Amino acid sequence: LSRIALFTSGGDAPGMNAAIRAVTRAAIAANLEVIGIRRGYQGMIEGDFQPLYASDVSGIIHLGGTMLRTARSNAFRTPEGRSRAYEQLKNAAIDAVVVIGGDGSFRGAQEMSQEYPVSFVGIPATIDNDMYGTDYTIGFETALNTVVEAVDKIRDTARSHGRIFFVEVMGREAGQLALHSGIACGAEVILIPESNAEGGKLHDFLKHGYKNKESSGIVIVAEGDESGGAMKIAERVRLDHPELEVRVSILGHIQRGGNPTADDRINATRMGVAAIEALLAGEKNIMIGIARDKIVQVPFKIAVKLCHRIDEQLLDIQRLMNI
Ligand code: F6P
Repeated sequence: LSRIALFTSGGDAPGMNAAIRAVTRAAIAANLEVIGIRRGYQGMIEGDFQPLYASDVSGIIHLGGTMLRTARSNAFRTPEGRSRAYEQLKNAAIDAVVVIGGDGSFRGAQEMSQEYPVSFVGIPATIDNDMYGTDYTIGFETALNTVVEAVDKIRDTARSHGRIFFVEVMGREAGQLALHSGIACGAEVILIPESNAEGGKLHDFLKHGYKNKESSGIVIVAEGDESGGAMKIAERVRLDHPELEVRVSILGHIQRGGNPTADDRINATRMGVAAIEALLAGEKNIMIGIARDKIVQVPFKIAVKLCHRIDEQLLDIQRLMNI
């Protein structure tokens, strides 16, 4: 192994830059040449490559977003797209690649490695925290803190006016951000795609809990919840309970930006180093993860197949806090 490439792909996540820095420097320390691929798989197809030296990644560990930029590439989903991507890698003499992203990114890597002789090692980076086999994905902690800060502010208004707020957080298929932020903010109800029992909790809260407490209500809604999102559910609640003052806040992409927390930076650095160690050891088609605070290697097919399950205990705790 004499040269590796790396790229970020899918939704950006705070801490991706810290991972880019770690991969680049660990590779250079092992006497490898490093090529950065810009704009994810799309840039791979177009040959948008740049050599990376240790100094190119200075001053980025604390920045959100990704210096290599990112994309969701439709072209790469086609055999023609992957064939063009492979030609570009071959021309640049690259046969080992670190992919920093979420499940869609790893599915793409898995597919390409079945068709062409390219070794991929993945680093999980998504604010959704929905990869199987790792307790943690880069960006989750930062996004969680962003949500908590925002909801704390919303709570001030909710309490002052005695209102119920439906706050929508990101997570098309995953309720991790909703569940964790809900606990941290003392939300009265959380609605997540992984559990349909919570709808009943909302009903109970609106009927009894709210009146008893005569205070405020925060309902955290994961965007992928079956209710159809905060707007829809608030509309229904307004009809059923005209006596309540209902408001909606959709937090949106502020959740994806901002400087990564210390833990996101540290874990990104640990995983970046581990990814290079894995490639040097001849590993391929694996995701680096952190489980019980230890670095682990998870085959792509397991990491992407089984969605990260919700911790039922956390869900119970959330309910217990709202007796
Ligand atoms: O996967 C990360 C994520 O932020 C999801 O939580 C969200 O559903 C999606 O990306 C939004 O994607 P985009 O920024 O491409 O609209």
